Amino acid sequence: MDPFRNPFAPGAGTPPPELSGRAELLTRSENALGRVQNGKSEKGIILVGLRGVGKTVLLNEIRREAEGQNFRTCMVEAHEGKSLPALLIPQLRRILLELDRLESLSEQVKRALRVLKSFMNGVKTKIGEVEVSLDIDAELGAADSGDIEADLPELMGAIGRAAQARKVALALFIDEIQYFKPIELSALIMAMHRIAQDRLPVILFAAGLPQVVALFGNSKSYAERLFDFPEIGALNEFDAIDAIEKPASDEGVDFDSKAMARILVRSRGYPFFLQEWGYHTWNVAAASPITIDDVEKATEIAIKRLDEGFFRVRFDRLTPREKNYLRAMAELGAGPHRSGDVAKQLAKKSSDLGPLRDGLIGKGMIYAPAHGDIAFTVPLFDQFMRRIMPSQPDRIES
Ligand SMILES: Nc1ncnc2c1ncn2[C@@H]1O[C@H](COP(=O)(O)OP(=O)(O)O)[C@@H](O)[C@H]1O
Ligand SMILES: [Mg+2]
Repeated sequence: MDPFRNPFAPGAGTPPPELSGRAELLTRSENALGRVQNGKSEKGIILVGLRGVGKTVLLNEIRREAEGQNFRTCMVEAHEGKSLPALLIPQLRRILLELDRLESLSEQVKRALRVLKSFMNGVKTKIGEVEVSLDIDAELGAADSGDIEADLPELMGAIGRAAQARKVALALFIDEIQYFKPIELSALIMAMHRIAQDRLPVILFAAGLPQVVALFGNSKSYAERLFDFPEIGALNEFDAIDAIEKPASDEGVDFDSKAMARILVRSRGYPFFLQEWGYHTWNVAAASPITIDDVEKATEIAIKRLDEGFFRVRFDRLTPREKNYLRAMAELGAGPHRSGDVAKQLAKKSSDLGPLRDGLIGKGMIYAPAHGDIAFTVPLFDQFMRRIMPSQPDRIES
Protein backbone atom coordinates (compact mmCIF):
# COMPACT_ATOMS: atom_id res chain seq x y z
CA MET A 1 0.00 0.00 0.00
CA ASP A 2 1.18 3.52 -0.77
CA PRO A 3 3.40 4.51 2.19
CA PHE A 4 2.63 8.18 1.56
CA ARG A 5 -0.99 7.53 2.44
CA ASN A 6 -0.22 5.41 5.50
CA PRO A 7 -2.47 6.92 8.19
CA PHE A 8 -0.93 5.21 11.23
CA ALA A 9 1.21 7.19 13.62
CA PRO A 10 3.45 5.23 15.97
CA GLY A 11 5.42 7.59 18.18
CA ALA A 12 5.60 9.37 21.52
CA GLY A 13 2.70 11.80 21.89
CA THR A 14 1.96 11.59 18.14
CA PRO A 15 -1.75 12.23 17.59
CA PRO A 16 -3.39 9.01 16.36
CA PRO A 17 -5.52 9.11 13.21
CA GLU A 18 -8.45 7.97 15.36
CA LEU A 19 -8.47 8.73 19.09
CA SER A 20 -10.33 5.58 20.01
CA GLY A 21 -12.05 4.69 23.27
CA ARG A 22 -11.40 7.89 25.18
CA ALA A 23 -14.70 9.72 24.70
CA GLU A 24 -15.81 9.31 28.30
CA LEU A 25 -12.58 10.69 29.69
CA LEU A 26 -12.65 13.62 27.30
CA THR A 27 -16.23 14.47 28.28
CA ARG A 28 -15.26 14.30 31.92
CA SER A 29 -12.33 16.66 31.32
CA GLU A 30 -14.49 19.07 29.32
CA ASN A 31 -16.98 19.18 32.19
CA ALA A 32 -14.24 19.79 34.73
CA LEU A 33 -12.92 22.67 32.62
CA GLY A 34 -16.40 24.11 32.19
CA ARG A 35 -16.98 24.08 35.93
CA VAL A 36 -13.68 25.79 36.71
CA GLN A 37 -14.44 28.36 34.02
CA ASN A 38 -17.66 29.08 35.90
CA GLY A 39 -15.94 29.60 39.23
CA LYS A 40 -16.80 26.17 40.62
CA SER A 41 -14.18 24.04 42.32
CA GLU A 42 -13.21 20.83 40.59
CA LYS A 43 -10.75 18.01 41.25
CA GLY A 44 -7.60 17.81 39.19
CA ILE A 45 -7.24 14.82 36.88
CA ILE A 46 -4.17 12.59 36.97
CA LEU A 47 -4.06 10.11 34.10
CA VAL A 48 -2.41 6.91 35.20
CA GLY A 49 -1.13 4.14 32.95
CA LEU A 50 1.69 2.16 31.41
CA ARG A 51 3.97 3.44 28.67
CA GLY A 52 2.36 3.74 25.27
CA VAL A 53 -1.30 3.80 26.30
CA GLY A 54 -1.89 7.35 25.08
CA LYS A 55 -1.52 9.57 28.15
CA THR A 56 0.48 12.31 26.44
CA VAL A 57 -1.90 12.33 23.50
CA LEU A 58 -4.78 12.80 25.94
CA LEU A 59 -3.07 15.63 27.81
CA ASN A 60 -2.52 17.42 24.50
CA GLU A 61 -6.13 16.87 23.53
CA ILE A 62 -7.42 18.21 26.87
CA ARG A 63 -5.11 21.19 26.52
CA ARG A 64 -6.61 21.95 23.12
CA GLU A 65 -10.06 21.78 24.67
CA ALA A 66 -8.96 24.08 27.49
CA GLU A 67 -7.65 26.65 25.04
CA GLY A 68 -10.91 26.37 23.12
CA GLN A 69 -12.67 27.25 26.39
CA ASN A 70 -10.39 30.29 26.75
CA PHE A 71 -8.15 28.92 29.45
CA ARG A 72 -4.56 30.09 29.73
CA THR A 73 -2.49 26.91 29.69
CA CYS A 74 1.00 25.61 30.11
CA MET A 75 2.51 22.16 29.71
CA VAL A 76 5.67 20.79 31.27
CA GLU A 77 7.26 17.37 31.09
CA ALA A 78 9.05 16.24 34.24
CA HIS A 79 12.28 14.31 33.93
CA GLU A 80 14.98 13.10 36.24
CA GLY A 81 17.43 15.90 35.49
CA LYS A 82 15.36 19.02 36.11
CA SER A 83 13.65 20.52 39.14
CA LEU A 84 10.01 21.55 39.30
CA PRO A 85 10.81 25.28 39.70
CA ALA A 86 13.17 25.22 36.73
CA LEU A 87 10.41 23.70 34.58
CA LEU A 88 7.53 25.76 35.87
CA ILE A 89 8.99 29.25 36.26
CA PRO A 90 9.38 30.09 32.54
CA GLN A 91 5.82 28.91 31.87
CA LEU A 92 4.25 30.79 34.76
CA ARG A 93 6.23 33.87 33.79
CA ARG A 94 4.87 33.68 30.25
CA ILE A 95 1.28 33.36 31.48
CA LEU A 96 1.62 36.29 33.89
CA LEU A 97 3.20 38.51 31.24
CA GLU A 98 0.28 37.66 28.97
CA LEU A 99 -2.18 38.57 31.71
CA ASP A 100 -0.24 41.77 32.31
CA ARG A 101 -0.68 42.81 28.68
CA LEU A 102 -4.47 42.51 28.83
CA GLU A 103 -6.07 46.01 28.84
CA SER A 104 -6.08 47.86 32.14
CA LEU A 105 -3.50 47.64 34.86
CA SER A 106 -4.24 45.00 37.45
CA GLU A 107 -2.68 45.20 40.89
CA GLN A 108 -3.22 41.44 41.37
CA VAL A 109 -1.27 40.64 38.21
CA LYS A 110 1.55 43.00 39.19
CA ARG A 111 1.67 41.44 42.62
CA ALA A 112 1.81 37.91 41.18
CA LEU A 113 4.75 39.00 39.02
CA ARG A 114 6.54 40.38 42.07
CA VAL A 115 5.84 37.16 43.99
CA LEU A 116 7.16 35.14 41.06
CA LYS A 117 10.29 37.25 41.13
CA SER A 118 10.82 36.61 44.84
CA PHE A 119 10.08 32.90 44.33
CA MET A 120 12.83 32.90 41.71
CA ASN A 121 15.20 34.55 44.18
CA GLY A 122 14.35 31.94 46.82
CA VAL A 123 14.94 29.13 44.37
CA LYS A 124 18.13 30.67 43.01
CA THR A 125 19.83 30.82 46.37
CA LYS A 126 18.86 27.21 46.92
CA ILE A 127 19.55 25.48 43.60
CA GLY A 128 20.82 28.23 41.32
CA GLU A 129 19.43 26.97 38.02
CA VAL A 130 16.87 29.49 36.88
CA GLU A 131 17.76 31.00 33.55
CA VAL A 132 14.94 33.43 32.88
CA SER A 133 14.87 37.01 34.07
CA LEU A 134 12.01 39.18 35.20
CA ASP A 135 12.24 42.95 35.14
CA ILE A 136 10.26 43.81 38.26
CA ASP A 137 11.02 44.29 41.94
CA ALA A 138 10.54 41.23 44.11
CA GLU A 139 7.76 41.15 46.71
CA LEU A 140 10.10 40.78 49.65
CA GLY A 141 9.10 38.13 52.15
CA ALA A 142 6.60 36.45 49.83
CA ALA A 143 7.37 32.94 48.51
CA ASP A 144 11.10 33.47 48.95
CA SER A 145 11.91 31.37 52.02
CA GLY A 146 13.65 28.77 49.84
CA ASP A 147 11.32 26.10 51.29
CA ILE A 148 9.38 24.97 48.26
CA GLU A 149 6.51 23.53 50.32
CA ALA A 150 5.83 27.00 51.67
CA ASP A 151 6.78 29.01 48.60
CA LEU A 152 4.98 27.17 45.81
CA PRO A 153 1.52 27.36 47.45
CA GLU A 154 2.06 31.06 48.04
CA LEU A 155 3.15 31.64 44.46
CA MET A 156 0.26 29.62 43.01
CA GLY A 157 -2.17 31.46 45.25
CA ALA A 158 -0.91 34.81 43.94
CA ILE A 159 -1.14 33.58 40.35
CA GLY A 160 -4.65 32.22 40.94
CA ARG A 161 -5.77 35.57 42.28
CA ALA A 162 -4.22 37.34 39.31
CA ALA A 163 -6.19 35.08 36.97
CA GLN A 164 -9.35 35.66 38.97
CA ALA A 165 -8.86 39.43 38.76
CA ARG A 166 -8.52 39.08 34.97
CA LYS A 167 -11.58 36.81 34.84
CA VAL A 168 -9.63 34.04 33.12
CA ALA A 169 -8.98 30.46 34.20
CA LEU A 170 -5.68 28.57 34.14
CA ALA A 171 -5.02 24.94 33.33
CA LEU A 172 -1.64 23.41 34.21
CA PHE A 173 -0.52 20.28 32.41
CA ILE A 174 2.28 18.09 33.72
CA ASP A 175 3.47 14.96 31.92
CA GLU A 176 5.64 12.19 33.44
CA ILE A 177 4.78 13.48 36.89
CA GLN A 178 6.32 10.40 38.58
CA TYR A 179 9.74 11.98 37.99
CA PHE A 180 9.21 14.86 40.42
CA LYS A 181 11.14 14.56 43.69
CA PRO A 182 8.91 13.74 46.69
CA ILE A 183 9.32 17.23 48.14
CA GLU A 184 8.35 18.82 44.82
CA LEU A 185 5.29 16.61 44.48
CA SER A 186 4.34 17.49 48.04
CA ALA A 187 4.71 21.21 47.29
CA LEU A 188 2.57 20.84 44.16
CA ILE A 189 -0.18 19.04 46.06
CA MET A 190 -0.10 21.71 48.77
CA ALA A 191 -0.29 24.41 46.10
CA MET A 192 -3.39 22.82 44.57
CA HIS A 193 -4.84 22.46 48.06
CA ARG A 194 -4.42 26.21 48.54
CA ILE A 195 -6.06 26.83 45.17
CA ALA A 196 -9.03 24.64 46.15
CA GLN A 197 -9.45 26.30 49.54
CA ASP A 198 -9.40 29.78 48.03
CA ARG A 199 -11.61 28.64 45.12
CA LEU A 200 -9.26 30.06 42.55
CA PRO A 201 -9.79 29.30 38.84
CA VAL A 202 -6.85 26.92 38.38
CA ILE A 203 -6.98 23.22 37.48
CA LEU A 204 -4.23 20.62 37.17
CA PHE A 205 -4.11 17.85 34.59
CA ALA A 206 -1.20 15.44 34.81
CA ALA A 207 -0.10 12.04 33.56
CA GLY A 208 2.22 9.44 34.96
CA LEU A 209 3.11 5.80 35.42
CA PRO A 210 1.03 3.65 37.80
CA GLN A 211 3.28 4.43 40.77
CA VAL A 212 1.91 7.98 40.92
CA VAL A 213 -1.21 6.90 42.81
CA ALA A 214 0.96 5.71 45.71
CA LEU A 215 3.32 8.69 45.37
CA PHE A 216 0.40 11.09 45.80
CA GLY A 217 -1.22 9.11 48.59
CA ASN A 218 2.01 8.72 50.56
CA SER A 219 2.79 12.38 50.13
CA LYS A 220 -0.49 13.82 51.42
CA SER A 221 -3.43 11.80 52.69
CA TYR A 222 -5.84 14.45 51.39
CA ALA A 223 -4.53 14.05 47.82
CA GLU A 224 -7.39 11.70 46.94
CA ARG A 225 -9.88 14.47 47.71
CA LEU A 226 -8.07 16.90 45.43
CA PHE A 227 -7.51 14.65 42.43
CA ASP A 228 -9.06 11.83 40.45
CA PHE A 229 -6.78 9.15 39.07
CA PRO A 230 -8.46 7.66 35.99
CA GLU A 231 -6.67 4.60 34.66
CA ILE A 232 -5.70 4.74 31.02
CA GLY A 233 -5.12 1.27 29.62
CA ALA A 234 -5.22 -0.97 26.58
CA LEU A 235 -8.27 -0.49 24.35
CA ASN A 236 -11.08 -3.01 24.45
CA GLU A 237 -11.65 -5.10 21.33
CA PHE A 238 -14.29 -2.83 19.90
CA ASP A 239 -12.20 0.34 20.29
CA ALA A 240 -9.02 -1.34 19.11
CA ILE A 241 -10.77 -2.41 15.89
CA ASP A 242 -11.95 1.17 15.40
CA ALA A 243 -8.43 2.48 15.90
CA ILE A 244 -7.25 0.40 12.92
CA GLU A 245 -10.30 0.17 10.67
CA LYS A 246 -11.49 3.76 10.64
CA PRO A 247 -8.25 5.40 9.49
CA ALA A 248 -7.74 2.67 6.88
CA SER A 249 -11.25 2.88 5.48
CA ASP A 250 -10.90 6.67 5.20
CA GLU A 251 -8.17 5.81 2.70
CA GLY A 252 -10.36 3.20 0.99
CA VAL A 253 -8.49 0.24 2.51
CA ASP A 254 -9.95 -2.71 4.44
CA PHE A 255 -8.51 -5.32 6.80
CA ASP A 256 -10.11 -8.76 6.53
CA SER A 257 -11.40 -10.16 9.80
CA LYS A 258 -8.55 -12.62 10.35
CA ALA A 259 -5.97 -9.90 9.76
CA MET A 260 -7.76 -7.70 12.26
CA ALA A 261 -7.95 -10.49 14.84
CA ARG A 262 -4.22 -11.12 14.47
CA ILE A 263 -3.38 -7.46 15.03
CA LEU A 264 -5.41 -7.56 18.23
CA VAL A 265 -3.48 -10.60 19.44
CA ARG A 266 -0.09 -9.09 18.59
CA SER A 267 -0.78 -5.63 20.01
CA ARG A 268 -2.89 -6.73 23.00
CA GLY A 269 -4.91 -3.58 22.26
CA TYR A 270 -2.15 -1.23 23.46
CA PRO A 271 -2.47 2.01 21.51
CA PHE A 272 1.20 2.35 20.68
CA PHE A 273 1.42 -1.24 19.43
CA LEU A 274 -1.78 -0.84 17.43
CA GLN A 275 -0.20 2.10 15.61
CA GLU A 276 3.03 0.14 15.10
CA TRP A 277 1.26 -2.91 13.68
CA GLY A 278 -1.16 -0.84 11.62
CA TYR A 279 1.72 1.12 10.16
CA HIS A 280 3.92 -1.81 9.13
CA THR A 281 1.03 -3.97 7.96
CA TRP A 282 -0.07 -1.16 5.67
CA ASN A 283 3.40 -0.81 4.16
CA VAL A 284 3.84 -4.57 3.65
CA ALA A 285 0.43 -5.19 2.06
CA ALA A 286 0.20 -5.16 -1.73
CA ALA A 287 -3.56 -4.70 -2.01
CA SER A 288 -6.79 -4.26 -0.08
CA PRO A 289 -8.19 -6.12 1.77
CA ILE A 290 -5.16 -6.64 3.99
CA THR A 291 -4.72 -10.28 5.02
CA ILE A 292 -3.34 -12.25 7.94
CA ASP A 293 -0.21 -13.02 5.88
CA ASP A 294 0.44 -9.29 5.62
CA VAL A 295 0.11 -8.97 9.38
CA GLU A 296 2.58 -11.80 9.96
CA LYS A 297 5.12 -10.30 7.59
CA ALA A 298 4.70 -6.97 9.33
CA THR A 299 5.06 -8.58 12.76
CA GLU A 300 8.69 -9.41 12.08
CA ILE A 301 9.37 -5.80 11.11
CA ALA A 302 7.34 -4.34 13.95
CA ILE A 303 9.18 -6.40 16.57
CA LYS A 304 12.54 -5.49 15.09
CA ARG A 305 11.62 -1.81 15.15
CA LEU A 306 10.38 -2.01 18.73
CA ASP A 307 13.52 -3.86 19.81
CA GLU A 308 15.70 -1.16 18.26
CA GLY A 309 13.64 1.77 19.53
CA PHE A 310 10.86 1.76 22.12
CA PHE A 311 12.29 -1.13 24.17
CA ARG A 312 15.95 -0.49 23.47
CA VAL A 313 16.10 3.12 24.72
CA ARG A 314 14.81 1.91 28.06
CA PHE A 315 17.15 -1.09 28.21
CA ASP A 316 20.17 1.12 27.49
CA ARG A 317 19.54 3.19 30.61
CA LEU A 318 19.94 0.17 32.90
CA THR A 319 22.99 -0.96 34.85
CA PRO A 320 24.13 -4.58 34.40
CA ARG A 321 22.60 -5.52 37.77
CA GLU A 322 19.29 -3.91 36.82
CA LYS A 323 19.31 -5.81 33.53
CA ASN A 324 19.85 -9.06 35.38
CA TYR A 325 17.02 -8.29 37.76
CA LEU A 326 14.58 -7.50 34.96
CA ARG A 327 15.70 -10.59 33.06
CA ALA A 328 14.92 -12.73 36.09
CA MET A 329 11.54 -11.03 36.34
CA ALA A 330 10.89 -11.68 32.63
CA GLU A 331 11.59 -15.37 33.15
CA LEU A 332 8.39 -15.49 35.19
CA GLY A 333 6.26 -14.04 32.37
CA ALA A 334 4.33 -10.82 31.87
CA GLY A 335 3.53 -10.29 35.57
CA PRO A 336 2.73 -8.86 38.04
CA HIS A 337 5.06 -11.04 40.14
CA ARG A 338 5.82 -11.39 43.84
CA SER A 339 9.14 -9.66 44.41
CA GLY A 340 10.06 -12.64 46.58
CA ASP A 341 9.71 -14.93 43.54
CA VAL A 342 12.05 -12.74 41.51
CA ALA A 343 14.60 -12.78 44.33
CA LYS A 344 14.33 -16.57 44.44
CA GLN A 345 15.28 -16.74 40.75
CA LEU A 346 18.48 -14.95 41.70
CA ALA A 347 19.15 -16.94 44.86
CA LYS A 348 18.69 -13.84 47.03
CA LYS A 349 16.49 -12.66 49.84
CA SER A 350 13.85 -10.20 48.72
CA SER A 351 15.04 -7.62 51.26
CA ASP A 352 18.59 -7.70 49.84
CA LEU A 353 17.24 -6.55 46.50
CA GLY A 354 15.15 -3.67 47.91
CA PRO A 355 17.48 -0.84 46.82
CA LEU A 356 17.83 -2.33 43.34
CA ARG A 357 14.05 -2.55 43.06
CA ASP A 358 13.61 1.04 44.28
CA GLY A 359 16.13 2.22 41.69
CA LEU A 360 14.14 0.52 38.94
CA ILE A 361 10.92 2.10 40.18
CA GLY A 362 12.67 5.50 40.22
CA LYS A 363 13.76 4.97 36.62
CA GLY A 364 10.16 4.24 35.71
CA MET A 365 10.87 0.64 34.61
CA ILE A 366 8.69 -1.20 37.14
CA TYR A 367 6.00 -0.36 39.67
CA ALA A 368 4.31 -2.01 42.61
CA PRO A 369 0.64 -2.73 41.81
CA ALA A 370 0.19 -4.06 45.35
CA HIS A 371 2.41 -4.47 48.38
CA GLY A 372 5.13 -7.03 47.61
CA ASP A 373 4.19 -7.21 43.93
CA ILE A 374 6.05 -5.74 40.98
CA ALA A 375 5.22 -5.36 37.30
CA PHE A 376 6.77 -3.84 34.18
CA THR A 377 5.67 -0.30 33.22
CA VAL A 378 6.26 -1.12 29.55
CA PRO A 379 3.78 -3.61 28.05
CA LEU A 380 5.41 -6.70 26.47
CA PHE A 381 8.76 -5.83 28.07
CA ASP A 382 9.10 -9.38 29.41
CA GLN A 383 9.18 -10.74 25.86
CA PHE A 384 11.77 -8.16 24.86
CA MET A 385 13.99 -9.05 27.82
CA ARG A 386 13.91 -12.70 26.83
CA ARG A 387 14.85 -11.80 23.26
CA ILE A 388 17.71 -9.48 24.14
CA MET A 389 19.12 -11.67 26.95
CA PRO A 390 18.37 -15.22 25.82
CA SER A 391 19.58 -16.89 29.00
CA GLN A 392 18.70 -15.85 32.49
CA PRO A 393 21.38 -15.09 35.09
CA ASP A 394 21.32 -17.50 38.01
CA ARG A 395 22.80 -15.01 40.43
CA ILE A 396 23.33 -11.30 40.90
CA GLU A 397 26.28 -9.58 42.54
CA SER A 398 25.46 -7.85 45.82
N1 LIG B 1 -6.89 6.28 21.88
C1 LIG B 1 -5.96 5.93 20.99
N2 LIG B 1 -6.27 5.21 19.89
C2 LIG B 1 -5.32 4.86 19.01
N3 LIG B 1 -4.03 5.18 19.11
C3 LIG B 1 -3.64 5.91 20.17
C4 LIG B 1 -4.58 6.31 21.16
N4 LIG B 1 -3.93 7.01 22.11
C5 LIG B 1 -2.63 7.04 21.74
N5 LIG B 1 -2.45 6.38 20.57
C6 LIG B 1 -1.14 6.18 19.91
O1 LIG B 1 -0.31 5.52 20.86
C7 LIG B 1 1.03 6.00 20.82
C8 LIG B 1 1.51 6.39 22.21
O2 LIG B 1 0.80 7.52 22.70
P1 LIG B 1 1.39 8.39 23.91
O3 LIG B 1 0.40 9.45 24.21
O4 LIG B 1 2.79 8.81 23.60
O5 LIG B 1 1.42 7.31 25.11
P2 LIG B 1 1.96 7.49 26.61
O6 LIG B 1 2.12 8.96 26.85
O7 LIG B 1 0.92 6.86 27.47
O8 LIG B 1 3.27 6.74 26.67
C9 LIG B 1 1.04 7.11 19.78
O9 LIG B 1 1.56 6.58 18.58
C10 LIG B 1 -0.43 7.48 19.60
O10 LIG B 1 -0.70 7.89 18.27
MG1 LIG C 1 3.79 10.02 27.42
